[in-house]
This record gives sequence, structure tokens and C-alpha cells, in this order.
Amino acid sequence: MKKIFIAALMAAALANPAFAGDGLRVEHLGTAHSLVRIDAQSRYILLPVQDDAEDDRIVVVVDGRAEKTLHVRLAKTRVDFYVPLDITPWAGHNVVLSVHTSQGRATVREAKQDACWRNLRLSDTFDTTNREKYRPAYHHTPLYGWMNDPNGMFYKDGEWHLYFQANPYGSKWQNMTWGHSSSRDLVHWTHHPLAIEPDAHGTIFSGSCAIDHTGSVGVGKGAVIGMYTSCDASQTQSLVWSTDGGQTFEKYAANPVITLETEARDPNMFWDAKHGRWVMILAHALEKEMLIFNSPDLKQWTLASHFGKGLGAQDGVWECPDLFELPIEGEKESRWVLICNLNPGGPFGGSATQYFTGTFDGQTFVADTDATGTVPTKWLDFGKDHYATVSWSDAPNNRRTVVGWMSNWQYATEVPTMQFRSANTLPRDLKLFRAADGQLYCASKPSPELLAMRAAALKGSRSLSVGSTAKSVALPTANDGICEIALTLNANGADSVRVALANEAGEEVALVYDPAAHTLAVDRTRSGLVSFSADFPARTVSPTFETDGSVSLRIFVDRSSVEVFEADGRFVHTDLVFPTSPYTSLRLSSTGGKARVSSLAIYPLNI
Ligand code: FRU
Repeated sequence: MKKIFIAALMAAALANPAFAGDGLRVEHLGTAHSLVRIDAQSRYILLPVQDDAEDDRIVVVVDGRAEKTLHVRLAKTRVDFYVPLDITPWAGHNVVLSVHTSQGRATVREAKQDACWRNLRLSDTFDTTNREKYRPAYHHTPLYGWMNDPNGMFYKDGEWHLYFQANPYGSKWQNMTWGHSSSRDLVHWTHHPLAIEPDAHGTIFSGSCAIDHTGSVGVGKGAVIGMYTSCDASQTQSLVWSTDGGQTFEKYAANPVITLETEARDPNMFWDAKHGRWVMILAHALEKEMLIFNSPDLKQWTLASHFGKGLGAQDGVWECPDLFELPIEGEKESRWVLICNLNPGGPFGGSATQYFTGTFDGQTFVADTDATGTVPTKWLDFGKDHYATVSWSDAPNNRRTVVGWMSNWQYATEVPTMQFRSANTLPRDLKLFRAADGQLYCASKPSPELLAMRAAALKGSRSLSVGSTAKSVALPTANDGICEIALTLNANGADSVRVALANEAGEEVALVYDPAAHTLAVDRTRSGLVSFSADFPARTVSPTFETDGSVSLRIFVDRSSVEVFEADGRFVHTDLVFPTSPYTSLRLSSTGGKARVSSLAIYPLNI
């Protein structure tokens, strides 16, 4: 009798769904497979995530058909945060999540203990209120979840559209989707629904958008056209268009439009008015070269040329290209610039953006050489956290405005934020300048829109004589000390001039100008939290391109980043920092003689 009773209890336990939020039933089918039945109407199912768990595979089954597959780090021992899966598209249908857990348990009983099952919830709301002290105030970030490459950017009707590689279901790289934001001033960003989601051809990798002014694609003049890489077992190129200004995209039914036998990605296209056709540059990633194609309609493509084998930095894969013409400052000529992001192989380890200057005839890019006939390696930014930089198409007044991903693949998934991971750099406007060595270089100036953030400079803006004992100048305290600092360092014969952003905890970011070497170094080895990755503490060094012993800088500080621009953008260092409390003072000193810091102006920022 007793035995029968126990057996009945066990049977009931096995049949009974584990507890989950109202309207949900979880059934465990084994040690690594469970079903979640959604019995009630709701906007979202909130999925509990543990950032360091392994990805589980969730197949959304609607009326017996697989509608969508996502990979989520479902919570095992603790819930770090939730991500929302929007279930409104399937309202009124039979919805079951078929969950394949990657870390199988020894027994079903153990599998049932995983924290995710008792924390699944249905909800009509999802709270995106910021929970992160390191979320920048005036840099673009995703509302929640992971972000890498900015891409697909275009300008239309007064709005700067920005798409980005997003994981809507976690804060590490996965489920690549195009997230979407837009801005009228390049400072304040409005978040929009996901723009392009994975399909049977794969996840949605980086690409580009342009306005089809001539109607060449056949979906109307003025339509927004997009191309991206579909990533499945291989990488192919797909075409999409939008007739609602970039809010939603329709996928071309005959995708993919370019297939190759080797890995190629991140198509970047523009209309070549002179030849009446499209040009596309595509990263032939592992071959470390770029491919250039032509097309009349974005559907039929002809390979026109290869560029770059053996040229420039070759230590990593080539990704995220761009190609455009730029005026040369002070000269009548213009020149073409080919952007090539590479990872790893950057000058200070990991990801970085190199570029080539040269000529382009619509089919072939020929890089400039130096006096020895060599194609020099040029870097767009000398910081550690500047990658996947590409430009907006159709920007007004012939502007070439770019933005990069403010992180580095070396440690991007380890940085100390959780609700969101990664910000974009400040937007920059590019120009070419000719340096003393006769070579053309690309200057990246903070976009002019950023000036509008400046509040009145703090009192005490002045010119200071500095020596071996550091002089301290207070930084703003409002809004976690976000600010822009403008100043000129005049070496006046001193060996070096040092500017440090420092806090009471003894943390600092130090800038050292060496007039003899013509370099500026940025050292973040003691900037705050640095030990989450051995690759994070770093000292980066850039050429200063000056010849008169002085450099003017604009330094932007925003909670977890410091961007140091030469005032005309001739060099830039973009670096993440995680101070345990905001930097509160600027410490100015010199070695080997007195130096002068002039035109010092510290601007609190209104945002
Ligand atoms: C660069 C990159 C691209 C690719 C994307 C995937 O960071 O590897 O080449 O399209 O990220 O998210």
C-alpha cells in the first residue's frame, strides 16, 4: 500500500509542472530539455538571465511550427537580470518555448532546480530604467543588452539613423539583430524597435544603408536600401529596403544576392553618380583584403577588384569597411579614404581602425605610398576602444560623419556593466590633412553638434605655469563629473607636460605630452577598475603631428570613457575607464623645466 502511495506521489511529481509565474507551465522532458507553455495573453515573457551561464537554445513553437530560435543564458544559480521576449505577434495562438539547455543536469530533479524555471514571468511591461553607474550620459548606448558595431547609418529628413549589432536577449554577443536608434542632434538618441531580425538565412551581421535617389532598386525613389551579411554556417550578403524611413525593412525574397566560397562580410555600398551604378566594398575577412563590386540594381553584382593583400596591418581579420572621398584641408584636391577595421592587430592590442588614402576610379582603389614606395599603415584612433568605425551615408553639407564602437574584442564581454554592454564613441567629422612628412592623414574632429552641450566654463579658466609639483584644478561634480576640457599644452622647453584626471581614491588617467618625440601618451593603468581583463590596463601613444612644442586638446569625460582629441582632430585616443568614483580634479605638471598650460576651459555639460 505504502509503495503504491509513494509511486503515485512520484508519478504526480514527474507529471506536475514546476512552479513558474502565472500563466506559464514548465514541463521537464529530460535533463536538458524542457517545455514552457504560455497559457495567458501578455506582451512579454521575461526570461531570467545569468550573465556567466552558458547559452541555452530556445525554439519558439507556435501552433506546432518553429517561428524563431534564440540563444539565452538562462539563470542556473542566480538571476542577474531579465530580458523580454515579445510574444504579441503570436497572440491568440498556441505558444510553447522548447528549451534545450546546454549544461545538461545529472537528473531531471536537478534540472528542475535551475533558477530560471521559478523566475519566468509574463508581463505587459519591461523596465528599462537605467541601473548602471557606468552608463554614459551623452554617448549612445542600447537601452539594454549587448551592442557591437554601429552600422547601416544614414541621414534623412533631419534625422541621423543609427543601427547597431544588438543582442536583445543578453549582455554578451549572440542573436545578432539590427537594433535601431535615431537622433536630431547626435547627442540625444531615441530608441526604436528592432529593425532587422534573424531569419532562415542566419543572424543579421553588419552592413550599410543608403537612400536610393534614382529608384534603381525598383522600390521607389527615396527608399532606404540596406545590405547586410546573413550569417549561418557561412556568410552571404542580403538586400533589404524600407519605405517608412528606416523603421521597418522588407527582405528581398531572392536573398542572398552575393554568395562566395569564403568568409566575407559587412557590405558597405554607395551610389556612384558618375558611372550610374552602385559600388560595394566587402571585407574578405580571413584573406585580409577588401573586395569591390559594382551593380546597377543591388541585385546583380559584378566583382570589379581586390584591394589590400599584404598591405597595412595584417595581424587580424579585416572587417567593417567603408570607402569615401574627402577634401584635403587647405588644398583644392580631394582624395579617397578606405576604412579597414581589423581585429586583432591594433597598435595597442586587439581591435582598431586602420585606413588607406588613395585614388578610386569607380572600380579599383590604389593606395598612396610614402617616399620609399611603401603603403604606410595609418590609424584613425590611437586609443584601445575604437572599433568598427563607419560613416553615415547622405549626411548633410557633404559631411563625412563617423561613429565607432567604444570597446575592444579583447574584453568587451567582461567590462563591469550588465544591464547594457558597450557604448558608441562620440560622433566625429572627418577631413584629410597633409602632415610634415608629406603624407595625407585623416583628422577626426568631434562633430560640431557636441558644442551645444557646453555650459558656461567653470570660473578660473586661465593660463597656468606648471612645474614638477602638480597644480590641481577642480572638475565639475554635477552629473558624475561629465565634462569637456579644452586646453593647450606649451612645453616651453620642458621635457614633458602631464595632465591627469584624478579622484580621491588615487585613481587617475594620465596624459603625457613629449615634445621631443612628438607624442601624446594616455595611461589608464591606474584609472579605476582594471583587473577584469589582463588586456585592459594600457598606455597608448599617438603622434602629435605638431612642430612647435604645443598641442591643443579637447578631452571629453563621460562616466566610463575619456576621449582625447587634438583640437583639429589630428590624433585621438578613445579609452574606456571605470573609476570607482568620478574624477574630481585635473592635475597639471611638467618635468625637465616649467611648461605652460594655456586657454584652460572646463565645461560642465548640459544634456
Ligand atoms: C565586427 C564584426 C563584423 C560582424 C559583426 C558581427 O565587430 O565581427 O565583422 O559583421 O561583428 O556581430
